[in-house]
Amino acid sequence: MAEARRGELRARGTGSLAERLWDLDWRTHFPAVVSRDGDVSADIISSQAFLAFAVAHYPVIFKAPNRGLLQLRQHVSRSRFYEQEADLFGFFHGQELVGVCAANATDWSTYYLRSAGILPAYQGQGVWRSFLERLLVILREQTVERVEGDVDPTNEIEVLAFTRFGFLVTGQTISERWGSLVKFTKFLNPACETTFRRQFCSAFSEASPSQSGFWDSEPS
Ligand SMILES: CC(C)(COP(=O)(O)OP(=O)(O)OC[C@H]1O[C@@H](n2cnc3c(N)ncnc32)[C@H](O)[C@@H]1OP(=O)(O)O)[C@@H](O)C(=O)NCCC(=O)NCCS
Repeated sequence: MAEARRGELRARGTGSLAERLWDLDWRTHFPAVVSRDGDVSADIISSQAFLAFAVAHYPVIFKAPNRGLLQLRQHVSRSRFYEQEADLFGFFHGQELVGVCAANATDWSTYYLRSAGILPAYQGQGVWRSFLERLLVILREQTVERVEGDVDPTNEIEVLAFTRFGFLVTGQTISERWGSLVKFTKFLNPACETTFRRQFCSAFSEASPSQSGFWDSEPS
């Protein structure tokens, strides 16, 4: 029964924009263990599983009843976007879905982390770090040059997490949908980071992109 449940949630193969652009097959990379104790694994999931999780758990995860996907009007094109273009990952503890991540290619060399949410009981256990490490190695192998994410400036944990992971602040957007967001970019191509630093940063412009050495290592 439990096996059947996880099987139902797993995507059969997505054909997402990232898979089509970069000849990727997520099923060759996932499932994969993504927690320090080995209890949580990441897998690709269907859009139905992702949206059901978001509707059920985002109000608690985001500590507000009207946040995240819930504030959007129903839109048939949104469903198609999630079904056909996005990459949807689930974090499983045993057979239970305890977190999700939605992401997508935005162009031929850019990947976008759209949304992530992990149940409070599973936060702070290294799931997000471990998953991102793995994801970035896979994307770098496909010659993706940058990974972007937008964060509410008051979301201290996510701001801290992106900074700790070597993402740089590369912009700010304000929209009717998401409010004020800080844009973070992780440059996978060092030449792109060098250009960014040279063109736009007066301090530390000569710093080595992989100064921390963190991203030189294989995923744990
Ligand atoms: C943000 C989120 C996805 C991170 O997932 P996680 O698995 O808990 O994160 P990790 O345990 O891998 O920790 C990653 C980094 O986040 C930061 N962090 C995590 N929990 C933290 C806490 N309680 N206090 C301070 N920093 C924390 C740390 O910088 C940590 O890196 P470090 O361990 O090297 O110091 C998760 O906390 C979450 O779902 N939050 C609510 C929803 C949200 O904000 N989503 C992101 C915006 S869409």
